[in-house]
Amino acid sequence: MENKIITSEYIESQITQIRQQVGDKGVLLGLSGGVDSSVCAALIEKAVPGQLHCIFVDHGFMRLNEGDEIEAIFSQKNLNFVRVNAEERFLARLKGVSDPETKRKIIGEEFVRVFEEESAKLGDIEFLAQGTIFPDVAESGSDGHKKVKSHHNVALPDDIKFTGLVEPLRPLYKEDVRAVGRELGLPEILVARQPFPGPGIAVRVLGELTREKCDLLRLADAIVREEIDKMPDDVRPSQYFAILPGIMSVGVRDNARSYENLIAVRAVITRDFVTGQYARLSHEVLEVIAARITREVPGVNRVVYDITDKPPGTVEWE
Ligand code: XMP
Repeated sequence: MENKIITSEYIESQITQIRQQVGDKGVLLGLSGGVDSSVCAALIEKAVPGQLHCIFVDHGFMRLNEGDEIEAIFSQKNLNFVRVNAEERFLARLKGVSDPETKRKIIGEEFVRVFEEESAKLGDIEFLAQGTIFPDVAESGSDGHKKVKSHHNVALPDDIKFTGLVEPLRPLYKEDVRAVGRELGLPEILVARQPFPGPGIAVRVLGELTREKCDLLRLADAIVREEIDKMPDDVRPSQYFAILPGIMSVGVRDNARSYENLIAVRAVITRDFVTGQYARLSHEVLEVIAARITREVPGVNRVVYDITDKPPGTVEWE
């Protein structure tokens, strides 16, 4: 897909629009460290320097060590950055909940509540910014599109207490967002990062969430990413991760019967994340991933590979 936008013109037009919308008021952004929110932060900071406050809500569903990495990167930048460790609060609200849409809605609502509480601490912040991009809008059923699933950054509760919403990336596809990020001078480590859903691994640990399940998934996921990261740039899939479906199966370890977890591996190739193909990973790569996961992650005795395209599958399993 060719970039439909002229990046520099898009940036200029958004800067003008943000200045008009926001005036001299404060803007609060939930910064996840992903491409969308990072580019959103850079754009708003450029438009209204000093007025942007970034809050990183660590909901406990980040990848292995990711929370600390994000904090390290953004606390060095010229932004007002706060990290909120809210893992216990999210897990408490999600206790006993296994329905995927209910999980997404609870996480989305809790995010906004945390923003509100943090913004209250920061004083008079009138605007909420979000790195919503076009596929989020299309798949959440907004703007006349048919609903597929609720992306947490679109499903805002009705009683949200901000004057306005700043969403400078709303018409863009992922590649356009990356182009805007590069033009704004963001480092490649942020701009080229694979996408990560707002609800994090909460939509990859299927069913009810516990910290133990999340920890197990994080270890397996780190191995999947480490191995696929070794592939050359031009053949590496667009997005790749592990899933914990919550299935136990019988296996054999050290000549004894085992009854342990199954890990699924997902890797997709896509330009726009609206459609995509499963990645034809080599058996060599898959074998290393399976061998490492079953050897290095306690409680896992089986690994499967998801060979479903989108459609009919989605990238995420929930
Ligand atoms: P699906 O699963 O809908 O995913 O095929 C398409 C792309 O969107 C990401 N994704 C999300 N991103 N908030 C986000 O910001 C969300 O709630 C969310 N859910 C899915 C997904 O990882 C993939 O890149």
